Amino acid sequence: MAENNKEKADIGLIGLAVMGQNLILNMNDHGFTVACFNRTVSKVDQFLNNEAKGTNVIGVHSIEELVQSLKKPRRVMLLVQAGTAVDDFINKLIPLLDQGDIIIDGGNSLYKDSIRRAKEIEDKGFLFIGTGVSGGEEGARIGPSLMPGGSEKAWEHVKPIFQKIAAKADGEPCCDWVGPSGSGHFVKMVHNGIEYGDMQLICEIYNIMKDILNMSNDEIADTFTEWNKGTLDSFLIEITANILRYQEKGKHVVDLIRDSAGQKGTGKWTGIAALEYGVPVTLIGESVFARCLSSLIDERGRASTQLKGPNVQDFDGDKKQFIEYLGQALYASKIISYAQGFMLMRQAAKEYSWKLNYGSIALMWRGGCIIRSVFLGNIKAAYDKNESLENLLLDHFFTDAINKCQQGWRKVIATATVYGIPIPCLSTALAFYDGYRSKRLPANLIQAQRDYFGAHTYELLDNPGTYVHTNWTGHGGNVTASTYIH
Ligand SMILES: *[C@@H]1O[C@H](CO)[C@@H](O)[C@H](O)[C@H]1NC(C)=O
Ligand SMILES: *[C@@H]1O[C@H](CO)[C@@H](O)[C@H](O)[C@H]1NC(C)=O
Ligand SMILES: *[C@@H]1O[C@H](CO)[C@@H](O)[C@H](O)[C@H]1NC(C)=O
Ligand SMILES: *[C@@H]1O[C@H](CO)[C@@H](O)[C@H](O)[C@H]1NC(C)=O
Ligand SMILES: *[C@@H]1O[C@H](CO)[C@@H](O)[C@H](O)[C@H]1NC(C)=O
Repeated sequence: MAENNKEKADIGLIGLAVMGQNLILNMNDHGFTVACFNRTVSKVDQFLNNEAKGTNVIGVHSIEELVQSLKKPRRVMLLVQAGTAVDDFINKLIPLLDQGDIIIDGGNSLYKDSIRRAKEIEDKGFLFIGTGVSGGEEGARIGPSLMPGGSEKAWEHVKPIFQKIAAKADGEPCCDWVGPSGSGHFVKMVHNGIEYGDMQLICEIYNIMKDILNMSNDEIADTFTEWNKGTLDSFLIEITANILRYQEKGKHVVDLIRDSAGQKGTGKWTGIAALEYGVPVTLIGESVFARCLSSLIDERGRASTQLKGPNVQDFDGDKKQFIEYLGQALYASKIISYAQGFMLMRQAAKEYSWKLNYGSIALMWRGGCIIRSVFLGNIKAAYDKNESLENLLLDHFFTDAINKCQQGWRKVIATATVYGIPIPCLSTALAFYDGYRSKRLPANLIQAQRDYFGAHTYELLDNPGTYVHTNWTGHGGNVTASTYIH
C-alpha cells in the first residue's frame, strides 16, 4: 500500500485513560480523524470495541504505526502521567518524526519541564506545545478549557482542532495561544491553584453556616443555589449545592466523608512559584496548608480533647443578614484570590519574558474548566478595558465590588474568630487587602531589626536607593547580635 493512503489521521493521541478517551471522542465529534495508542495495547482494542465503536477513530498497536498514520506536519498529543512517562514517549517519538512535526503534551506537567522539553525538542528541529487541559472528564468530552504554549510555529496547525473542541463562552472558544514554552502549563498551574482557593473558601463558608448558624445541609444548599443566580454564579458553587443535597439511604453523603483532603500537587506548585518569584499569593498558599492540616486527622483528634476554644453563646444575631455578609465575604475573598493569581502570572511573565494576554486567559477560564464562572467575564472585561492594568483590584468594577462587600467581610471574619472557626483563606484575603491598600506598613521596624543584628542596612524614606547603617548600641563592630544573653 502506498504510504500516502495510510496518512489519514489528523492527530495522534497517546494515553487512553479517561481524559485521553474523552478528548479523542470530542475530536471525532468535530470531524477530526484521530489515531490512538496506549502502551498496554489491549486497551486500544477495548476502546475501539466499546466507547469508540462506530466512530472514525483509528486504533494502532505501535508508535511506528501511529506515526505512519498521520498527515503532515504530524501532530502527536500525549495524555500520559506527568513526569518520566512524558519524556519516555518523547524519546520514542523523536527518531520517527520529520522536521516540523509537532509533539503536544496535554498532561499536568510542571511548567519548568515544559520549558526544558520545548528546548530539547526545538533543538532537534521539531515543534513542541505544552497545553493545560481543564474541565475534568466531562470537560474533555464536551468542551474543555485549553491553554497551549510553546513553539509558536506549531499553533496554526493545532489551532483549528483545539478551538473547535474547546468549550465556548460568550460565543468564543475557551482556548487561545498563551505564549512561549512553559507559559501554557504555568497558566494551567495557576488555574489549579485558584481552584484550590475557591474550594477552600466555599468550605470555610460552609463551616460557618454549619457550626455558627446551625444550618442544615439543605438550607446551605438552598443558599448556594440562590447565590448561583448572582455574582457568585459558578461551576463550583453549583456542584457544592448538589453535593450538599445528595442523599443515600436517607443520609446526606457529605456528612459521612472523612475530613482529610488529598492533593496531587498543582496547588503546591503554585505556592512554590509564588515563593520563588516573591509574590504574595497568600490565599492559594493557605488553601494548600488547609489541606495539609486536614490530613493530620488523627493528630487533630487527639488535640481536640486537650486544646480549648472560646466559650461562646449560640448565635443570636440576624441570621438572614449574616448570610448576606457571608456572600460578601466569599465574593471579596475570591476577588483577592484572582488578583493574587494574576499577580503571579504577571511576575512569571517578567521572569521569562512572556507576553501574556490576561483578558484572553480570563476567557480561557470563563468556560469548560473547573473555575468557570460569570466572574471571569468581569475579569476579562477589566483587562479588555485596560491591557496594562497593574492589579485587578485597581479596576473600577472590582474596586467598587470589594468596597461594597467590605463591611460584611470584616463582620464574618470577626464573628468566625470569636467563635473559633478556622477561616485561613477568608482571613488571609482580608489581611492581604489591608496590606495592599496600606501606604505604610511596619516593615520600617523589620529593616531596623535587620540592621541591628545583622548590619543589613536600610534606606531612608526621603532618600531611597541609598543604604545606611546605624550604630544602634554604641559598642562593638557592625554586627551587634550579642545583646540578649538570657
Ligand atoms: C494506557 O491506558 C490506561 C488506562 O487503561 C492508562 O491508565 C494508562 O495511563 C495508559 N498509558 C499509556 C502510556 O498509554
Ligand atoms: C440546630 O438545628 C437543629 C435542627 O434544626 C435543632 O434541632 C437544634 O436545636 C439547633 N441547635 C441550636 C443550638 O440552635
Ligand atoms: C490602566 O492601568 C494602569 C496601571 O494600573 C494605569 O496607570 C492607567 O491609568 C490605566 N488606564 C486607564 C485608561 O484606566
Ligand atoms: C559605635 O559607637 C561606639 C561608641 O561611640 C564606637 O566605639 C564604635 O566604634 C562604633 N562602631 C562602629 C562600627 O562605628
Ligand atoms: C561597617 O559598616 C559600614 C557601612 O556598611 C562599612 O563601610 C564598614 O566597612 C563596616 N566595618 C566593618 C569593620 O565591617
